[in-house]
Amino acid sequence: MNILVTGGAGFIGSNFVRHFLEKHPSDSIVNLDKLTYAGNLDNLTDLEGNSRHRFVPGDITDPVLLDQLAAETDAIIHFAAETHVDRSIVAPEAFIKTNIQGTFVLLEASRKHKHKRFLHISTDEVYGSRLEGDFTEKDVLTPSSPYSASKASSDLLVSSYHKTYGLPAMITRCSNNYGPYQFPEKLIPLMISNALEDKSLPVYGDGLYIRDWLYVLDHCEAIDQVFHRGEIGEIYNIGSESGKTNLEIVQFILNTLGKPMSLIEHVKDRPAHDRRYAVSPQKIQSVLGWQPTYSIESALEKTIRWYCDHLDWWGRIKSGEYRDMYEKIYGVSL
Ligand code: NAD
Ligand code: DAU
Repeated sequence: MNILVTGGAGFIGSNFVRHFLEKHPSDSIVNLDKLTYAGNLDNLTDLEGNSRHRFVPGDITDPVLLDQLAAETDAIIHFAAETHVDRSIVAPEAFIKTNIQGTFVLLEASRKHKHKRFLHISTDEVYGSRLEGDFTEKDVLTPSSPYSASKASSDLLVSSYHKTYGLPAMITRCSNNYGPYQFPEKLIPLMISNALEDKSLPVYGDGLYIRDWLYVLDHCEAIDQVFHRGEIGEIYNIGSESGKTNLEIVQFILNTLGKPMSLIEHVKDRPAHDRRYAVSPQKIQSVLGWQPTYSIESALEKTIRWYCDHLDWWGRIKSGEYRDMYEKIYGVSL
């Protein structure tokens, strides 16, 4: 199969492209990415010269380009999105354009060219927050931020294309990922890189917000299994059922790096900050037999080591405009 992957120069997309090409030697990928601030060709250098990987710079909201790429491919796995909650609070427009309009353009192209599969990569954030218990795929969506609302909107569009036009679509909703190539605006890479630079670690509010962390390669394998064996029209939650508070994560990072806890700085809270995310992965486990294979302790250590070994990769990124945005919103230097 020749698969159109969107957003394959970002964090999860680049890990997925590599994972997929290694696992399926007779398949190929057309990788479409706009290379926004979050997209980075450095994430794909080891794929240079691989005849089964073709990178195409471009925007998923461009219907002419999508018509052309959908004609050449058999299926779409859709990662491309604006993904950072804080950015969606400061500047929501790009989230509406890419996450909603862009998904619409892809759905139209996939429908026209009668693709065999359309896999939409969504997030546990669409369910919103709950203090106890886990969300199942049947729960209603109560997103809190412009980011999660735009993802929920795109999920509903995807479902509507399956119901209305019979598009062979599926949706995955995964919990928070971590691992190599994650842009250092997200909690884990930001905290690791700040600690390595002996800068303060900005913890929002009381730091007792809970996220269910999943190593990125476990997510990639879950996507691969849903893509090949998932039932058309279905939604699959993906998670590891191992919620941790932000403070627990930050303390683990500082301990691992041998840095003092005094680097932690409690700062102004995120508006509409979701207290706890928790999805039940029971369906993907029982129907497809997927299980996470990495423990948070070993994979977080492995991730910390990766950032220690790739100072150039994140150093180049952190010297740019991202730093200015943070200083403006939170009044904290990075
Ligand atoms: P990321 O921000 O690292 O990467 C997003 C990629 O999309 C970038 O390469 C960017 O250049 C590209 N992109 C953005 N707008 C585009 C456009 N208009 N056209 C083409 N390309 C565009 O994101 P990520 O963390 O890798 O997330 C990938 C997907 O997984 C997203 O859909 C996100 O909602 C979902 N997701 C992320 C997590 C997480 O913890 N990171 C968890 C669950 C689901
Ligand atoms: O749950 C999946 C989602 O996880 C994905 O859909 C999103 O794309 C991804 O960005 C992520 O969203 P979060 O808002 O949970 O991730 P983030 O890394 O931004 O924040 C994790 C937690 O850490 C959250 O409670 C906010 C807090 N935080 C974050 C940053 C960047 C801090 O306390 N300080 C920080 O500097």
